Amino acid sequence: MGALRGVFIALSESPRARRFVLRNRISRRASRRFVAGETLADGLAAVRALNQAGLHASLNYLGEKTTSPAEAEQAAARYLEILAAVTGERLDCNLSIKLSQLGAAGDPALAEALLRRILAAARATDTFVRIDMEESALVDPTLTLWRRVWQDGFRNVGLVIQAYLRRSRADLEALVGEGVRIRLVKGAYLEPPQVAFPRKADVDAAYGHLMEILLRRGTYPAIATHDERMVARARAFATAEGIPLDRFEFQMIYGVRRDLQLALAQQGYNVRVYVPFGEQWYPYFMRRLGERPANVFFLLRGVLAEWR
Ligand code: FDA
Repeated sequence: MGALRGVFIALSESPRARRFVLRNRISRRASRRFVAGETLADGLAAVRALNQAGLHASLNYLGEKTTSPAEAEQAAARYLEILAAVTGERLDCNLSIKLSQLGAAGDPALAEALLRRILAAARATDTFVRIDMEESALVDPTLTLWRRVWQDGFRNVGLVIQAYLRRSRADLEALVGEGVRIRLVKGAYLEPPQVAFPRKADVDAAYGHLMEILLRRGTYPAIATHDERMVARARAFATAEGIPLDRFEFQMIYGVRRDLQLALAQQGYNVRVYVPFGEQWYPYFMRRLGERPANVFFLLRGVLAEWR
């Protein structure tokens, strides 16, 4: 499970690979499968199309591991612009934010101030904000920051739990009674075996278990996966437990399993699509490639066709 992912996560941090991919016409084009585009207009167009198809959305302005305060401020300002646009058009759309984009790794106080600014603006327009979960080193800072804003009364903010982390069962048990909305994912980063289950079968087993806890006791949980067997298991569990369809949602990534997104929505499930946009698409794109060998072949096919 880790080999392909490891290669692409290493590439996601390589400045040389970044320069090559960003300049290369084929990889730029291929990235569009997963990224709505580089501008806010591109992101909004994608959300509009999803809404018209009966799907909810969550916009993410791409960026992570911000090192300068000016960049973090700029990202926060961008989120305020997104909010204004989304509410101006009455789009059915949340925000998804990475705390490292707000400078959390270097300056937690700045990240907190910026998060509060975004949450306050979002609350005024009744918009929900999800804090994405990043590398395991950021889990405690993220939970701490979340608790601080939660204790100050912000209820329009949710968290992500990554099933691959060994700690997640305990984290979930501590959070599930609090009323916070949780998105459950398998986990997208490269973690050492002491921290995360190295075997996919163990990650899947953990996911299934945490999913059932959330469906039974969580607050409007988001089952975020493209794993058809897991989706089927969630549906069967909800039916068996008498959990109404409006008590949870499925979430998937823009460009992945559009067939399944639409089929679920047509069957009456809430389905939300995570829509990233922005110029900083490189690390996000690398993570998506590392999740599935077929994505790499798809990119290589394009390169070969052009080369020929
Ligand atoms: P799994 O990897 O088992 O894949 C199941 C099937 O889904 C594959 O066989 C394939 O058909 C399809 N599939 C999966 N990934 C694909 C891809 N990239 N391209 C094409 N097909 C693919 N992670 C994280 O660490 N922090 C976060 O905050 C988030 N946020 C997030 C939001 C949303 C809405 C989703 C759906 C996912 C995330 N993730 C995430 C990513 C998550 O951790 C995980 O890496 C991916 O969702 C892939 O895992 P699956 O659950 O889809 O299953």
